[in-house]
Amino acid sequence: MTQLQFRRNRRLRNSATLRSMVRETILQKEDFIYPLFIIEGENVKNEISSMPGIYQLSLDRLMEEVEEVVSLGIPSVILFGIPAEKDATGTGAFDDEGIVQRATRIIKEKHPQLVVIADTCLCEYTDHGHCGVVHGSDVLNDPSLELLAKTAVSQAKAGADIIAPSNMMDGFVVAIRQALDEEGFENVPIMSYAVKYASAYYGPFRDAAESAPQFGDRKTYQMDPANRMEALREAESDVMEGADFLIVKPALSYLDIMRDVKNNVLLPVVAYNVSGEYSMVKAAAQNGWINEKEIVLETLTSMKRAGADLIMTYHAKDAARWLEGK
Ligand code: PBG
Ligand code: ZN
Repeated sequence: MTQLQFRRNRRLRNSATLRSMVRETILQKEDFIYPLFIIEGENVKNEISSMPGIYQLSLDRLMEEVEEVVSLGIPSVILFGIPAEKDATGTGAFDDEGIVQRATRIIKEKHPQLVVIADTCLCEYTDHGHCGVVHGSDVLNDPSLELLAKTAVSQAKAGADIIAPSNMMDGFVVAIRQALDEEGFENVPIMSYAVKYASAYYGPFRDAAESAPQFGDRKTYQMDPANRMEALREAESDVMEGADFLIVKPALSYLDIMRDVKNNVLLPVVAYNVSGEYSMVKAAAQNGWINEKEIVLETLTSMKRAGADLIMTYHAKDAARWLEGK
């Protein structure tokens, strides 16, 4: 070996063309999944005050939003429903005429090629706001699995292309897989919220989905933000149970976890760039404190660099436009 030479790293940054030739991470609109909040009622388009640009939409106002998503070339949406009535077991979640089921049918009829992901949870449908069946102050694991499996089957029947369980009960992937297979939906993939932390970053979402827990918190089922090894344990069990994608959530404070998961599993990894992350950027941008476009593209690129194959993000429409130079 000759003596180490003085390297000039700046040589490869000398022009925009050269920079683009050595760029390691490419963000593209095909990476995006856009969340939609669908609410009962007519002619509703309510902006979420903590999430500028994001709306609760009634079924008759849904398609204008979907048309925009499709025309921007975003390949997929994830649906969250806000039912008219809530009850102890969240029956609205597995009603074949439920809000998400009807929305799915409407969207798939008009845009069969748009990939519709159904978020599969109970918290938007339960009067106590927890993600499962409650007994006293406990959230019961196995009774919740049955309801979750029924919800998944009902969503698949309505035409959902992907089932995305988010309630963090143990065994939810295998319970859903078995139920889907029994009903003939063996080709419907499961995108598991495998690594989901108990996070304050979900605050604005709970306004949007009207799903805040009415007592206690979600810390007995969502993960402790201090834990890293536990993320691999969660990822491993979902892989063994037959998940097809793994979600890491939130994204921005958990990029180390994203990389760990990416390095340890052979499944596509999905980053959920959650509501609180969106709200912080929007608030700072509205104050003129940051350059929104540059911050958003940098943030989304960093998620891909950390290992995300796909990104669920409320910025999807803006980012798709910006990437097209619009
Ligand atoms: C429901 C669910 C939540 C989010 C996605 N699915 C909230 C929660 O667990 O309290 C959060 C998404 C976001 O903040 O954007 N289980
Ligand atoms: Zn939930």
